Amino acid sequence: MKRVITYGTFDLFHIGHLNILKRARALGDYLVVAVSTDEFNLGKHKQCIYPYSHRAKIVEAIRFVDKVIPETSWEQKLDDIKAHSIDIFVIGHDWAGKFDFLKKYCEVVYLPRTESISTSSIKNTVQNGKSISE
Ligand code: CTP
Repeated sequence: MKRVITYGTFDLFHIGHLNILKRARALGDYLVVAVSTDEFNLGKHKQCIYPYSHRAKIVEAIRFVDKVIPETSWEQKLDDIKAHSIDIFVIGHDWAGKFDFLKKYCEVVYLPRTESISTSSIKNTVQNGKSISE
């Protein structure tokens, strides 16, 4: 049984989020998703539209996801990998190279992002009263 972990904010859940969770789960048999807490986001000067409780419940309901845990710090990754017996760490390739230090403990995979969508772009689109194209 291969166990996979990934991290993210997952605010205004969108198709890019679904795609990465599906691809991450396809790399193994069990997917843990660490969703950033509101306190952790504040430290990054990132303000979410949805509170942690909503974002965590939405991600938890996705059928490719087996477990959601809170992400409260940058430093927790190694502890998570050990605590959940993780074999593969997955993250979008906007982070390429940044987590190579985890290769001592598990496989590290950077997956391509879905093009043309992000939470930030959705916020701008909604502000301008437009719709998202396919
Ligand atoms: N992701 C992706 N494709 C996208 C957007 C996000 O594959 N179009 C991935 C990210 O690389 C990350 C995970 O989804 O591994 C969670 O990303 P998150 O930061 O929550 O989403 P973004 O839409 O990138 O949010 P923001 O615009 O606030 O940075």
